[in-house]
Amino acid sequence: MSSTSLTASAMRIGAIELPNRLFVAPMAGVTDRPFRQLCKQLGAGYAVSEMVTSRKDLWHSLKTSRRANHEGETAPIAVQIAGTDATMMAEAAAYNIDRGAQVIDINMGCPAKKVCNKWAGSALMQDEPLALQIVEAVVAACLPHKVPVTLKMRTGWSQAHRNAVRIARAAEQAGVAMLTVHGRTREQGYTGQAEYDTIAAVKDAVRVPVVANGDITSPEKALAVLRHTGADAIMVGRAAQGRPWIFGDIAHYLATGAHRAPPQTEQVKRWLLAHLEDHYGLYGEFAGVRTARKHIGWAVRALPGGERFRAHMNTLDSCAAQVQAVTDYFDALSLTHDRLPVTASGPAGGDGMQEAHEAACVAN
Ligand SMILES: Cc1cc2nc3c(=O)[nH]c(=O)nc-3n(C[C@H](O)[C@H](O)[C@H](O)COP(=O)(O)O)c2cc1C
Repeated sequence: MSSTSLTASAMRIGAIELPNRLFVAPMAGVTDRPFRQLCKQLGAGYAVSEMVTSRKDLWHSLKTSRRANHEGETAPIAVQIAGTDATMMAEAAAYNIDRGAQVIDINMGCPAKKVCNKWAGSALMQDEPLALQIVEAVVAACLPHKVPVTLKMRTGWSQAHRNAVRIARAAEQAGVAMLTVHGRTREQGYTGQAEYDTIAAVKDAVRVPVVANGDITSPEKALAVLRHTGADAIMVGRAAQGRPWIFGDIAHYLATGAHRAPPQTEQVKRWLLAHLEDHYGLYGEFAGVRTARKHIGWAVRALPGGERFRAHMNTLDSCAAQVQAVTDYFDALSLTHDRLPVTASGPAGGDGMQEAHEAACVAN
């Protein structure tokens, strides 16, 4: 596969055509509407919402209603649903379609011990009949609305039970329009390295588009994973945290074989300030200032004085003070660095990933 053929032809989910094959991964507590929109603006062709619970009693909670807010988001609007009961999942799909979802994604990839206090996410891979029942019920609920259903999963339950290929075939048979595979088992959580052989095997086994995910942190890695798996698209999660322009970097590399220059410091400041404004608009001042801290922290973590700045910024508790601090930091940096001095900051994985993920997933 040549690098240009990877970007030349259109990619579709059902009848929906996407601008490219570079996706941002759903990350609970991270890929809210402002961050998804920023990634799309900077080169991601597709973004899936953070998971929304299938539990009706939580649909009106502040957290779930924020997650279901798609105001101003560039189409297609893709909503991920999580749960363990087929009827509830079908109802959740219909509910989200009523609120603007154009694609429904089923979460069988989340390693959290409990999603909404029940075994769900990738735990479903251990119960193939239930997994299939859920897929069939969600497809049946979406069909009358002509809304495609997609599935995100891991390579299997454990090293000894890598059943992604079997689940992929059954899901395709049941009408799923696209499959995303994170190259780890559920048992692995975020430890070890993602492997891409199972993703390649899934791609060989089905005709619907397959998306490769896991540990893609650079344009070279993106190309290598596309080549190794033959996947139709790639999905980037942690490497986009604080570096949402990675999608544009990858697109440039796939198209030209060369790296583009790091972004200008002044430009990064403008992106971050616009992101903050959108973020405060969704969360309000109290929650907005606090939840913005992680985004700012990721943005500066690999930059000169970044750690010191992050510690200071975490003590500020108004939008105005946070905006001023970010402005001052980047203004000072641009005096010495016209362009960002460091662009490579791999996934913030390792210790604590599982805990952070679970905290974001459980408390709906
Ligand atoms: C903080 C965090 C939250 C996540 N939340 C979700 C989620 O809601 N749904 C899901 O399918 N995967 C979720 N994931 C998994 C990612 O979508 C992705 O599969 C994983 O991070 C591997 O990709 P990466 O190596 O590019 O980060 C989450 C990951 C992280 C780090």
